[in-house]
Amino acid sequence: QRHLLGIEPLRPDEIGTLLDLADSYVTLSRRREKRSSALSGLTQINMFFENSTRTQSSFEIAGKRLGADVMNMSMQASSIKKGETLIDTALTLNAMHPDLLVVRHPHSGAVDLLAQKVNCAVINAGDGRHEHPTQALLDALTIRRAKGRLHRLNIAICGDIAHSRVARSNILLLQKMENRIRLVGPTTLVPPVLKEFGVEIYEDMREGLRDADVVMMLRLQKERMDGGFIPSEREYYHRFGLDAEKLSFARPDAIVMHPGPMNRGVEIDGTLADDINRSVIQEQVEMGVAVRMAAMDLLSRNLRARPTELSA
Ligand code: CP
Repeated sequence: QRHLLGIEPLRPDEIGTLLDLADSYVTLSRRREKRSSALSGLTQINMFFENSTRTQSSFEIAGKRLGADVMNMSMQASSIKKGETLIDTALTLNAMHPDLLVVRHPHSGAVDLLAQKVNCAVINAGDGRHEHPTQALLDALTIRRAKGRLHRLNIAICGDIAHSRVARSNILLLQKMENRIRLVGPTTLVPPVLKEFGVEIYEDMREGLRDADVVMMLRLQKERMDGGFIPSEREYYHRFGLDAEKLSFARPDAIVMHPGPMNRGVEIDGTLADDINRSVIQEQVEMGVAVRMAAMDLLSRNLRARPTELSA
């Protein structure tokens, strides 16, 4: 692949190859000396048009660990604020010959559009409600390391599915790996039409979690609710917030995941989120760096295999 724009075009064997490489980068990242030269001589630009803590910092750390020259565009201080378009911004940066662009944008499809206009590799760091491929890959690596496999697991994805690019990318990836997916939440946030994806849908949290191997909680994304239905947080926590009592319906060794940022006391009990016997939320963050190292390493191999487009 030239770009990493979504999970949809990836084959299971390509996902497996990326996760195997990411495993080796977990080992590297746990050493005192963490450097590799996989991206040496390459330029990586991170363009985040939406706020981020985990994704942006882990892409920066990943690029630096691999020896790239990494630049973080400050979108707040850029000419976007003077009305310059996304495409003109991309073309301007493209003229500086970057090798990798990492882009997050609030509009679904914006990153795909940008990828058609530039010569370098583009990684989607989250576009609107569409996809967040590296999140799904880091979640997959976390599950594979915790459960010893990434197939034939009961996986419950709970909460605000309707507004979630994380849910969409995870459903695509986990189905490719032949897992059983249940979506759990109120019908306003888990529309019945999602059954077309071949998932099971539950409105009762205890039924949805029964015998689950993995419980993945999602944030209520009020910023994408456009003034529509916004549940009362208290009522939502009572019915759909994960606590020890609801988790007791899952398998005794079920792991608890959350992509972050978390609303403690809204979609998840804070004590449970911090329980290192059940929660793998900090592991997810660690796997984020390794998966992004692997993704950029693999894309850079394709870049180096292409003839240079520079002429004298
Ligand atoms: N999970 C995730 O994408 O987190 P950030 O928004 O902090 O990058």
